[in-house]
Amino acid sequence: MTIDLSDSDLFKTSSYVGGQWMRDSSRQLAVMNPATGEVIAEVATIGAAGMLAAITAAHDAMLAWREVPAKVRAQVLRRWFDLMMAHQEDLAIIMTTEQGKTLAESRGEVAYGAAFMEWFGEQAKRIDGDVIPAPSSDKRVVCIKQPVGVVAAITPWNFPNAMIARKAAPALAAGCSIVIKPASETPLSALAMAELAERAGVPAGVLNVVVGASSEIGPALTDSPLVRKLTFTGSTDVGRRLEQACAATLKRTSMELGGNAPFIVFDDADIDAAVQGALISKYRNSGQTCVCTNRILVQATIHDVFVDKLVAATAELKMGNGLDEGVQQGPLVNKKAVEDVDRLVRLSTEAGARVALGGAHSDLGPCYYQPTVLTGITSEMAVFRNEIFGPVAPVTSFADEAEAIALANDTEFGLASYFYTRDIGRVWRVSEALDYGMVGVNEGIISNEMAPFGGVKASGSGREGSKYGIDDYLEIKYILMGGLDR
Ligand code: SIN
Repeated sequence: MTIDLSDSDLFKTSSYVGGQWMRDSSRQLAVMNPATGEVIAEVATIGAAGMLAAITAAHDAMLAWREVPAKVRAQVLRRWFDLMMAHQEDLAIIMTTEQGKTLAESRGEVAYGAAFMEWFGEQAKRIDGDVIPAPSSDKRVVCIKQPVGVVAAITPWNFPNAMIARKAAPALAAGCSIVIKPASETPLSALAMAELAERAGVPAGVLNVVVGASSEIGPALTDSPLVRKLTFTGSTDVGRRLEQACAATLKRTSMELGGNAPFIVFDDADIDAAVQGALISKYRNSGQTCVCTNRILVQATIHDVFVDKLVAATAELKMGNGLDEGVQQGPLVNKKAVEDVDRLVRLSTEAGARVALGGAHSDLGPCYYQPTVLTGITSEMAVFRNEIFGPVAPVTSFADEAEAIALANDTEFGLASYFYTRDIGRVWRVSEALDYGMVGVNEGIISNEMAPFGGVKASGSGREGSKYGIDDYLEIKYILMGGLDR
């Protein structure tokens, strides 16, 4: 073991199935620290027999879990929240070591993830039904809500804790069981969460974590008739394939897919606040979030002053190993991520974009890319049309509000969007005109457990978090009671 933890039992290297740490295959998955290139763990991958065991365990456990009173499910989730917060530092160290984000961001993500346990534990007690006016006096129309059943969750490497929490917490609160397939880059955070779930009293089989190749685990989950819902966070391409794979068994799906967030700065904005908002929204997690600013649109009258300030602020960001004190930008998750970002930058400069800052690999190591600002971006360029997933801020200028809205909506995606203005009429007009699931007004960070997270168009379907987030894990059953006059 190469991670120094206060509680070494949080370091797990095999799948968690039916309450057991399972090794059913000889194949190992190497987990790498992107800051150093060092292999930090070899995790045993799960095979076909293990997947069958996981789905069967989840199904059997769900039959009992859904009968557990909501208040008791809430208490279990509350204990899981408490344990995650009590082990925040260890969970953060595991996360930074396998994913690369800074320790401060990892601590923040653990708190963000734990908040879903707290929130959905509380929501478990509010799964209310309805009594609806009936068509005649001898009848009553009643609606109750019941868990959908076994849930499969496929989660990404960019938020190794919170994207699991945002799915597992509502699933368990609703009375579902869950089989989680964490990203191959970041299984250790998921397994540590499973250990804490067990300590919190989540019954065996209610939560399972399966580690292994997507090509094997994905089909086992999508093809199983016992799995009634799939929830996925990841790329739009993979989301499309999963939707198709789920069609045969007509599973419910929730898809949190790619984004191409515009960040609009109008000339009446507080420019310094906008620069700070752009900085946090663009460079959070080194640009590797679905809600990261992907395109900065600045009104022509303030373009140069905004760019100068953004370049100056970006140049101050300290890059390095996320475990080191004071570091604000960690590495990207792997070398391929760096190559993908660099390719987009090169395509842009070949098409006429100018590099105002950065624009190249960093000599800190193969997974580092310099925080970059590009100007002169047009809507035809690849960097305008694709999700960058790296620390690159492309700036485009616009003439007026109509052009800003048209540019912002000129994408297949519709996840997060941001704009800065001090005009209250514009706040309403632009918020309503943006074709996105989420809008930040004078704010660069919008995610929290109380708000509905999700997108439209190619950014997916469903909402996570908030009072709406549990609905995706519940079926509405309508009961007509007749013969009541007799
Ligand atoms: C994501 O990038 O998928 C999630 C980001 C967030 O929850 O803020």
